[in-house]
Amino acid sequence: MKTPTLLREVLPYIRKFSGKIIVLKFSGKNLEEENFENIMADISVIHALGIRVVLVHGAGPQIEASLPQHSLKINGVRMTTSAEMEVIQSLLPNLTHSISTHLREWKLSPVIFPSKIFRVIQKDFGKDYPHHHTGEITKVSGPTLISALEDGLIPIFSPLVSDENGYFFNVNADELAVEIAVALKAKKLIFFSDVQGILDLSGNLISVVSLKKISELQEQKVISGGMIPKLHACQRAITGGVKRCHIVNGLQDGALLTELFTRDGSGTMILEDPNVYQHVRMAHRDDFGVLYRILEENVRDGYLRYRSREEVKEHLHEYFVFEIDEQIVGCVSLRYFGEIAEVGALATISHFRTQGIAKILLEKVEQKAKESGIKSIFAVTILTGQFFDIAGYQEIPRDTLPLSRQKDIQGTSKKVYGKNL
Ligand SMILES: CC(C)(COP(=O)(O)OP(=O)(O)OC[C@H]1O[C@@H](n2cnc3c(N)ncnc32)[C@H](O)[C@@H]1OP(=O)(O)O)[C@@H](O)C(=O)NCCC(=O)NCCS
Repeated sequence: MKTPTLLREVLPYIRKFSGKIIVLKFSGKNLEEENFENIMADISVIHALGIRVVLVHGAGPQIEASLPQHSLKINGVRMTTSAEMEVIQSLLPNLTHSISTHLREWKLSPVIFPSKIFRVIQKDFGKDYPHHHTGEITKVSGPTLISALEDGLIPIFSPLVSDENGYFFNVNADELAVEIAVALKAKKLIFFSDVQGILDLSGNLISVVSLKKISELQEQKVISGGMIPKLHACQRAITGGVKRCHIVNGLQDGALLTELFTRDGSGTMILEDPNVYQHVRMAHRDDFGVLYRILEENVRDGYLRYRSREEVKEHLHEYFVFEIDEQIVGCVSLRYFGEIAEVGALATISHFRTQGIAKILLEKVEQKAKESGIKSIFAVTILTGQFFDIAGYQEIPRDTLPLSRQKDIQGTSKKVYGKNL
């Protein structure tokens, strides 16, 4: 796709996210990967588009590599001894500084945040472990952070935080990112992982998932291993008021930009309840780019007839789109021919098929047609007759169509399906 057209397509997303706060969490492993430089470049892009960014990094592998022996972990959380704390205190500032240096190379203004904005308590590992330096954040003071963001700065946090009295704790970086995102009521919390996102049992990416569905997937053992604590962190963030959490692949060039600015995304988006955020509405001008791409893909695959850009633009008022979380995932058109109407351009994007979206779109246009006094509706289809069968349509003779449409399909093997309303 040519750059100017691409820019038109991302415009709705830029409008949606500009001025909003996004918290990005990298693991220590991400920091060592080749793709990290690309992530830094992408942060400079989203910052230039007016998105306010907060960075949180982990340091698991770096800490482990510097300790003489493995740390004791309780429920996956490191119980940091005094000796380990000394190592962590000497190691982490260098790591955080290296991120800051990268960002400066991209002409950004990072700020390694003085962590006195936290209230931290010692984590309770039970009475057998009274002495350690693992902390748990109980409060984050948002206003100082917000004013830094308003000044165009990019705050960076490491899992070494001090409380109001200057006493240092080692905290879990995922938890840290969650607490910061909750305190800021961030629009998004994005975790960089080393996988594409949540995959179903056949290995296909799940693009959007609700908190409820996550519990089901866990019961079905679709989600396991390291993904479980990550998703618990997402759960805590969303119930705390963060709008969306995402898991994206930190190894894939452009994964962050694709997730934020494209229809299909690149990873998994987690939200409270997609049903709350989904609806059918009439298409408007801003939708043209995304809508036309859906049509083009289906023309290419042989499912829909070709429509020129001009034709779609001219008839945009006939189109309805299905949105999930402000993302267009399906479309349909309704064209009137006197007392009958044609349903056309029905399509659901591939990640979202078999979830009942086309059925809802079809019901919407049927209801609309009925309200306008239309007695019967028809569809001309190339390959999808069975779908219309299921939806209560029957194959009807071509000569019941308006003459102009009869002419259009002359000499083709297209079939006509109709339904009385
Ligand atoms: C056909 C299409 C729009 C269906 O979208 P969808 O959102 O997956 O459909 P739904 O989930 O609403 O399915 C509704 C019903 O139709 C069935 N169905 C879905 N796609 C079907 C297909 N291609 N063929 C036969 N039946 C299909 C579903 O199983 C479901 O049945 P159920 O209610 O008994 O469970 C989608 O596959 C698509 O975009 N295809 C390419 C474009 C196309 O062929 N458009 C129609 C041209 S006229």
